[in-house]
Amino acid sequence: MLIAGNWKMNKTVKETKDFFSKFNKLVSKTKNQILICPSFPCIPAAKKSASAKIFIGAQNIFFEEKGEFTGEVSPLQLKDFCDFIILGHSDRRHKFSESSDSINKKIKASLKHNFNVILCVGETFSERESDQTKEILSEQLSDSLKEVSFSEKILVAYEPVWAIGSGKTAKPKDVFEVHSFIKSQLIELFGEKAAQTKILYGGSVKPENLKEIFSVENVDGVLVGGASLNPVSFSKIANYEKNK
Ligand code: PGA
Repeated sequence: MLIAGNWKMNKTVKETKDFFSKFNKLVSKTKNQILICPSFPCIPAAKKSASAKIFIGAQNIFFEEKGEFTGEVSPLQLKDFCDFIILGHSDRRHKFSESSDSINKKIKASLKHNFNVILCVGETFSERESDQTKEILSEQLSDSLKEVSFSEKILVAYEPVWAIGSGKTAKPKDVFEVHSFIKSQLIELFGEKAAQTKILYGGSVKPENLKEIFSVENVDGVLVGGASLNPVSFSKIANYEKNK
């Protein structure tokens, strides 16, 4: 299972080092894969302070390698530090108006540079209420993955927008249904080989609701925001053993 933390725009370099000085010991025995995605200035410190088994990722990337793109960070610049890139997070889609077309270019650039990609998809509350969840997810997947060749390096995170940072989580039966739907869409896009694609759940995951989330058979991991900032609470998630 992949246990991924998205720190969003939190922590200084010092706070990053302090986090790992506690966290490394707390997760030394886990068999899960652990990933932490700090904001750009803290990535080098995270890479240096994290124990070797912890993967480091970025929360975004630009699709060009270099040039006149003020304020952007390229895949080449991240190659020395990161194994994963989160793309299409709802903060990017909704607070920064990022389009699926831009996400699509970023996915292609990330795969070209051999990163693992966590593509985030999810419906808003009003889309769910008006029964549009499948339509929205299908659109987000097909637009973001347009002309992308299948790769085992593509992962999908289902993050219902209304569950992010809200303390609400989707019901297990809804998570099961949506993850199955996402899998069927990936198979439609890429063929049977996509059946192995890892699908993570995200949205207010914390130690207290983990058991319920992992009771869902087709949850291959979690993407955690708030609860990944504290080494103790994130270690409880990272150490979780699904079948115990
Ligand atoms: P949350 O964030 O766990 O704080 O809801 C999840 C995410 O945005 O990936």
